[in-house]
Amino acid sequence: MNRFALAALAASLPVSLALEAAPPTKGKTMEKIPGYTYGTAAVPRSPSTPAELELMKKAVLFTADDEKALRMSKGILADQTDAILDVWYGFVASHPHLVHFFGRKSDGQPDAAYLAAVRKRFAQWILDTAEARYDQTWLDYQDEIGRRHTRAAKNRTDGVASVDVVSYRYMPLFVYPITTTLKPFLAKKGHAPEDVERMHQAWVKSVLLQVALWSRPYVPEKDF
Ligand code: HEM
Repeated sequence: MNRFALAALAASLPVSLALEAAPPTKGKTMEKIPGYTYGTAAVPRSPSTPAELELMKKAVLFTADDEKALRMSKGILADQTDAILDVWYGFVASHPHLVHFFGRKSDGQPDAAYLAAVRKRFAQWILDTAEARYDQTWLDYQDEIGRRHTRAAKNRTDGVASVDVVSYRYMPLFVYPITTTLKPFLAKKGHAPEDVERMHQAWVKSVLLQVALWSRPYVPEKDF
């Protein structure tokens, strides 16, 4: 399915699955987002180090120019996070095998409150990704996001009774729909096609880096 079909699909979704619109997210200075613990003492130190991250960046050809391109994208995306999430949530909601991971254990139905709570943190993640601040605090929260997809901590943040784990096989696969559907939003503010392409490439690399970091709780530590 191409991105236009995805967007059309999202627009046609029932309200119960498209979910209530999250308030516009303008960063950490906004009202506190429930469960968003980036930079707090609640997040344990990650065994990943900035030096290790530099080697991972080289492996995905991520350069200083990608950092610049990500930061350029922040101003473009900041007031579009809600529209972007409509598309991403529309994609998930339209596939029973994907929305399954937001389902209640009791009856298998999507848990709307869970979806809505995660959506707010997802909006903040768009801004954090565009900020491209790769310090230890960011690495620590990467591990936390990884854990939140696994048996170690899924459901804990929102106190829900949903399925125990996001099956690992879907994690790398999501890089494609997430970054492909982002591209039209990067193009919406009239930037030159070369800049849109630079930003898009930087996003692909950044999300690949993050999903690689999020793999840690899924694999034996000695194999990470
Ligand atoms: C490129 C891959 C993915 C990205 C970028 C991504 C992004 C995110 C983000 C930013 C959050 C919120 C983190 C926070 O709490 O601050 C989250 C949570 C979540 N994601 Fe993903 N995700 C990916 C893959 C998937 C897949 C394949 C599924 C399955 C449909 C999924 C289901 C969930 C669920 C259920 C949560 C809530 C976890 C919890 O209980 O805390 N994610 N994701």
